[in-house]
Amino acid sequence: MRKPVIAGNWKMYKLLDEAVQTALALKPLVANANHCDVIIAPVFTALKTVADRLEGSNLRVSGQDCSTQSDFGAHTGEVTAGMLKDVGCQYVIIAHSERRQFYAETDESANRKVRAALVAGIRPIYCIGELLSEREAGRAESVVETQLNGGLQGLTPADMERIIIAYEPVWAIGTGKTATPEQAQEMHAHIRRTIVSAHDAVTADGMRILYGGSVKPDNIATLMSQEDVDGALVGGASLVAQDFARIVNYR
Ligand code: PGA
Repeated sequence: MRKPVIAGNWKMYKLLDEAVQTALALKPLVANANHCDVIIAPVFTALKTVADRLEGSNLRVSGQDCSTQSDFGAHTGEVTAGMLKDVGCQYVIIAHSERRQFYAETDESANRKVRAALVAGIRPIYCIGELLSEREAGRAESVVETQLNGGLQGLTPADMERIIIAYEPVWAIGTGKTATPEQAQEMHAHIRRTIVSAHDAVTADGMRILYGGSVKPDNIATLMSQEDVDGALVGGASLVAQDFARIVNYR
C-alpha cells in the first residue's frame, strides 16, 4: 500500500509573517490526517521559521529547489540540499515546470539536483509533465518518459524508494483546467510502466506518483480514486489554509 502524499507548493508567495500564519492555521486543520503525508513548500526565506513553528506536528516542510552542488563553494545565489535539511526540510521539489520553462532547468540538471538531495538525506519531489502542444501532437507519453528517464538516470532501486514523482501537465498548472481523472490515471500508469522497464515491478509499485495542475477541494476526491494517483501537488489552492485542509482531508 502506498501512503498518499498531499503537498502544497507556495511558489513565490507570502512574506514571512503570512507564511507562519498560514502554516499555524493549517496545523490543527490537518492534525488528524493520518491517511496521508502532508507537506508544505514555502519560499526559502520562510523555511526555517515555518519548520520551527511546525515542530512536533504532522506537517513536513519542503524546499522548492536546490543547487546541483552538494559542497560549500563560490556559487552566489545557490542553496544546497544540505542547507535545506539544516533548516528543517525533509523534502525538496525539483524541476517544477516553472523552473524548466523560465529558469533553464533540464533533465540533466534535475538529475544532479535529485542526487544532491539524496546525498543530503532529503527526499526529492521530481516534477515532470508535457506542454499543451506536446499533448496535442500526441507526444505526451514520450515527453514524460524522456523527463522521467533523464531526471532519474543512474539511480538505484534504493534511491527510487526515497523519491516522489509529481506528474504536472503544464497546460493544467494555474489554468483552472484540470486533467480528467482518466487522463491522470492513464499517464500515471504509463509512468509506473516506465519505472518497471528501468528498474523492476516492486520498485515501481512502491513509488508514489502525485498529480498536479489545478487541484481543488472539489476535484481531489475523484483524482484520488484513480488507482495510480497517490496524491497531489497543489499550487493555488494550497495558499489558503482552509482550502488546502479540505484537499488534505479529501476522504
Ligand atoms: P496549481 O499549481 O495547483 O495552481 O495549478 C500546481 C503546481 O504548479 O504545482
